[in-house]
Amino acid sequence: MTPQDQRHLLAWYDLEKRDLPWRRTSDPYAIWVSEIMLQQTQIATVLPYFQRWMGQFPTVQSLAAADEQDVLSLWQGLGYYRRCGMLLAGARFVTKNGIPAGVENWLKVPGIGRYTAAAIASISQSDPAPLVDGNVERVFARFTGCESSGQALHKRAWQWAEASLFRARPGDWNQALMELGACVCKPAEAKCTCCPLRSSCVANTLGLQRELPHRPPKLEAAKLQEIVRIPYYSGSFGVRQIAAGEWWQGMWEFPRVRVGSAEQDLGPGVSELAGVVKYQVTNHKLTMETYVHHCEVRVESLKWVSLGALESLPLPAPQRRALALALLRLREPAILLARQR
Ligand code: ADE
Repeated sequence: MTPQDQRHLLAWYDLEKRDLPWRRTSDPYAIWVSEIMLQQTQIATVLPYFQRWMGQFPTVQSLAAADEQDVLSLWQGLGYYRRCGMLLAGARFVTKNGIPAGVENWLKVPGIGRYTAAAIASISQSDPAPLVDGNVERVFARFTGCESSGQALHKRAWQWAEASLFRARPGDWNQALMELGACVCKPAEAKCTCCPLRSSCVANTLGLQRELPHRPPKLEAAKLQEIVRIPYYSGSFGVRQIAAGEWWQGMWEFPRVRVGSAEQDLGPGVSELAGVVKYQVTNHKLTMETYVHHCEVRVESLKWVSLGALESLPLPAPQRRALALALLRLREPAILLARQR
């Protein structure tokens, strides 16, 4: 990357960058929240969540003092719930230890990895820390003609990011590379005619935009079959909190077991099939056979809640779908009335 390429990219960014709320602040906490939300999630989806979040938790101290359930409820619908728990743990750490200065100190915060630490430190503190996300990796592969894939590509991209960093404006530089990947050097379509780096780009010169980056062979999704029973007794539903280390930890669910494993004791009662929920989570295809379990007693190992209370409890998306199937099955006037509230 020549100094002229650097100037072209920054001039393009200054002119063309999208106006986003986290680009109007240098508050490290706001930038931290935006970076965590943007991992695996589109900007359009993140925007309303970010605004609501900053309205409810405007400072890192206000987040640190919040109840985990309130925080999870606000995150509901954004997916990858581990991010939310880690953000809360990170806020508590920072409130105790002070706002970190520089990338090395951000790396000490629980839940903050190499990319996020560099993003926060470079954007909010002008720390000359390079970074690589999926966008930067693609720009790198095409710009340099790198034919590696997977881990090797990732490693080379970090070396390139370090070597090409514009150290006088590291935050803008990092965002310019990411912005170029998101808006111009897109995965399926490289808009080379509008690219500020086109004259030095190997893929543009050799017509390799569609070939690069090389993709590693895709792993086949593992299939998981589960049975979920929705315990129901006289207008209330039995739920349990999801244990640490499981997907959706800290959220709530109806008892769920793998097909073939021992069932949780829901007490005496009759199970009625409500339908099947299919859901993809990370590299797993989940099929959940869903039953309503008409209980004869409220077993004490579960928390019993009304439908109204259930709606404000953080439930994973497949569990919400299972609940929708169960409600269709139940069709009790009292339940349907509660649902309309
Ligand atoms: N992706 C994640 N954070 C970003 C940022 N600050 N600018 C552009 N793309 C991003």
